[in-house]
Amino acid sequence: MSTDSSAVPSSLLVDAIGTLVTNDPSLGQGAVGEMSDAALVVEDGRVAWCGPRGRAPAADVRVDAEGRCVVPGFVDSHSHIVFAGDRSREFAARMSGRPYTAGGIRTTVAATRAATDAELLEGARRLVREARAQGTTTLEVKSGYGLTVDDEARSLSVAARVTEETTFLGAHVVPPEYADDPAGYVDLVTGPMLEACAPRARWIDVFCERGAFDEDAARRVLTAGTARGLLPRVHGNQLGPGPGVRLAVELGAASVDHCTCLSAEDVDALAQAARRPRPTVATLLPGVDFSTRRPYPDARALLDAGAVVALASDCNPGSCFTSSLAFCIAVAVRDMGMTPDEAVWSATAGGARALRRTDVGHLAPGARADLVLLEAPHHVYLAYRPGVPQVAAVWKDGQLVAG
Ligand code: NIG
Ligand code: FE
Repeated sequence: MSTDSSAVPSSLLVDAIGTLVTNDPSLGQGAVGEMSDAALVVEDGRVAWCGPRGRAPAADVRVDAEGRCVVPGFVDSHSHIVFAGDRSREFAARMSGRPYTAGGIRTTVAATRAATDAELLEGARRLVREARAQGTTTLEVKSGYGLTVDDEARSLSVAARVTEETTFLGAHVVPPEYADDPAGYVDLVTGPMLEACAPRARWIDVFCERGAFDEDAARRVLTAGTARGLLPRVHGNQLGPGPGVRLAVELGAASVDHCTCLSAEDVDALAQAARRPRPTVATLLPGVDFSTRRPYPDARALLDAGAVVALASDCNPGSCFTSSLAFCIAVAVRDMGMTPDEAVWSATAGGARALRRTDVGHLAPGARADLVLLEAPHHVYLAYRPGVPQVAAVWKDGQLVAG
């Protein structure tokens, strides 16, 4: 791809697209709105037109897709990329039989507190570049490895340098200095820490799980965040059954993430929530269950019940150090009962729903021109060729950012 990334043409024609995934929003969940022999026109960073090749309006610059596939940029609605340190040995120990516990988070907290702002920013930028090169054009980024007022605030300042989708996760775990006073830590999170962090965040999140925060504490955190103007999302039902899904639905959270251990009532609650104008999305994180060697969530049960399902990476140094949505798609298809169409939709349009965004995750006219040209004729190749780099080029807001 020879287009100069510094120049933004006012209009761009991507021509001779073998398969175009539009995720036309007028279609239902999992319907990718596939067009064959298509073309797409970008104007001023937005999709201006898409349709059959040969009927495309003229544009300033033409890119020949040579029969390859174009999909919407991946919308990764869950990551923890502001951190320092390394936990590869913890991973190796798990692969030798040690279980995953939330306790490992404290290892990263210690390293993150010791890092400079510049080191945290450089690490986050490196992972954003890595994700972008793999087709991710929207990325949510959480704090949660600082766990003091200052360290959470600076983590969010770093996050805000790399994304608009910033999430305050002061309630990740109780840090060691509050081990004897977990209620005092919730007071800190819902008081001074929230005051310092709210101006830098769009979302508030809580790890509602045994070993982290129980239902009452999680409700306090989310309610305080909402009162401060943040939008709620939840980590829940990862390591065992629990109240996370129920609480997320009760509070109208945009998403409840992990959903590995669900009861029939949880599935039903998510299906009911899908009928609301603003659903609570079930965001599944296959890389976590892969990297912690735990059972995968039952995506099929959620989809059959009618829940809205997203796929995200959860990129973090502990439970899952991948930034690859293509990998997540492949696992979801191979092991979670999703069709390739459903998995691609969930990693794009599903992620957009989990972030309550209508401008990304699809390629209908008016959408942001966030596009991925695959080195493949069809999007099923994302699952069909696992582990193979297949991203030829990535545009964000109509600007070439990779390839
Ligand atoms: O989403 N579940 C809680 N937090 C992260 C794990 C972070 C870590 O282990 O460092 C997650 O999996
Ligand atoms: Fe997470």
